Amino acid sequence: QSEARKRLIAGLIRDVPDFPKPGVTFKDITPLLASPNGFQAAITEIIDAAPRDIDVVVGMEARGFIFASPVALALGAGFVPVRKPGKLPGAVLSQSFELEYGSAELNLHADAIKPDARVLVVDDVLATGGTVGATAALLKQIGAELVHVSVVMELGFLGGREYLVQRGIDSSSAIL
Ligand code: PRP
Repeated sequence: QSEARKRLIAGLIRDVPDFPKPGVTFKDITPLLASPNGFQAAITEIIDAAPRDIDVVVGMEARGFIFASPVALALGAGFVPVRKPGKLPGAVLSQSFELEYGSAELNLHADAIKPDARVLVVDDVLATGGTVGATAALLKQIGAELVHVSVVMELGFLGGREYLVQRGIDSSSAIL
């Protein structure tokens, strides 16, 4: 049944060539989200792979929010957003990370997660691993336990999983 779900999900992700720039093939999840069966299948797969006793599900702006929120509700966990700079109103922790050209930064409310919390990180795509790596570093600043990382899709040729393992994150799973 999981295999059937994976086929359904894969068939609803659209490759868009040369977006957002020439040479890049963008993975468009909007057909998946627009399909009630497809969206449900993706959430079910993430929930089935999730460890028990998760206190907090963290999702990253913006597409991570879409998948992390229903997973949090289903697990009876809280949802906490990791956001791009300038969006969170309270005191924030900040983590920068390298992009192909330049760098980016992610923020987390300093008081959003208790130091003893068990955290599941959910995003749509694992590409270079920069986004998940920065999120893990934010959780480390708090002292919370990153129990697992779940993504809908992993772009294996970009080496994200290896990037995460090098940073001590060895528990991750992808539906596709
Ligand atoms: C995309 C995607 C992941 C991240 C993966 O987000 O949603 O969060 O890139 O790439 P990485 O593994 O190389 O870090 P993006 O920054 O495009 O933001 P969006 O979700 O707001 O579109």
